[in-house]
Amino acid sequence: MEIIRVKDYEEMSKTASSYILEKLKQLDAPVIGLATGSTPEGLYRLLVDENKKGNVSFKNVTTFNLDEYTNIEPTDPNSYHYFMNKHLLDHIDIPKNQIHLPNGNAEDLEAECQEYENKISEAGKIDLQVLGIGVNGHIGFNEPGTPFTSRTHIVTLDESTREANSRFFNSIDEVPTQAITMGIGTIMESSEILMLISGEQKADTLNRLLNGEVSEEFPASVLHKHSKVTVIADEAACSKL
Ligand code: GLP
Repeated sequence: MEIIRVKDYEEMSKTASSYILEKLKQLDAPVIGLATGSTPEGLYRLLVDENKKGNVSFKNVTTFNLDEYTNIEPTDPNSYHYFMNKHLLDHIDIPKNQIHLPNGNAEDLEAECQEYENKISEAGKIDLQVLGIGVNGHIGFNEPGTPFTSRTHIVTLDESTREANSRFFNSIDEVPTQAITMGIGTIMESSEILMLISGEQKADTLNRLLNGEVSEEFPASVLHKHSKVTVIADEAACSKL
C-alpha cells in the first residue's frame, strides 16, 4: 500500500484528479469504479473542469458506482444516482449507457445484485476503483463483519453509518436502513485501487488502516491483501500517525 501525504482537501483532490487523468490516458477503454460521499466531491469538480477545458474525454470511459440506498428514487436528492449526476456525470461527455449504478429500487433486489455483478464481468474488470472510507472502516457500504469474499449484496446499514450520513437528510429517520453495495471480493478484483482520506474525523480510521490488523471487523484492512493500492491522505487525516 502506497501512501501519498498531501496538505489539505484541495491538494488531495488535485493529486487524485492528476492520478486518474494519467490512468485514463493509458487505457483505450477505461473502466473506472466511482464512490460517493463528501470526500470525492473535489475530485469530481476537477474532472469536470478538465473535461470542459478539453484536456480529457470520457467518451470511452465506463463507470461502475460502489453502492446505492434501497427504496429511494434516482431523482431523490439523497440518492447516489442524484449525487453522481450532480457532481460529475451530468457535466462530462460520457455516454449514458456506459454509466452504471446499482438500482436500489429494483423489484427483485437479489436479482439486481447478480445483474450488477454480471455487468462488471461483461465490462472485463474495473481498471481503477476510487474509494472513500467510513469512520468504522467501511468501504462502499460493506460494514464491519462483512466477509472479504462477499459479492454485490444487500446490506443493513450500521446505526453509526446512518448517523454519519444523516447530515444529508432532514433527520436520521429519513436515512434508508438498507443499501446495495459491491462486495469486498468484487472491489478486490479491481486492477488498482485509489483511496482518498481527508479530515481529522478520519485520523483514527487511517491509523487503524495503516497500523491495525487485517480483519473483517475493519473492512478496509483487506486492502493490505491487494497488490496495487494508493492512499491519498491529507495532514488532518494523518494527524494520529
Ligand atoms: C458512505 C459511502 C462510502 C463513503 C463513506 C465515507 O456511507 N457509502 O462509499 O466512502 O460513507 O463518506 P464521506 O466521504 O462523506 O466521509
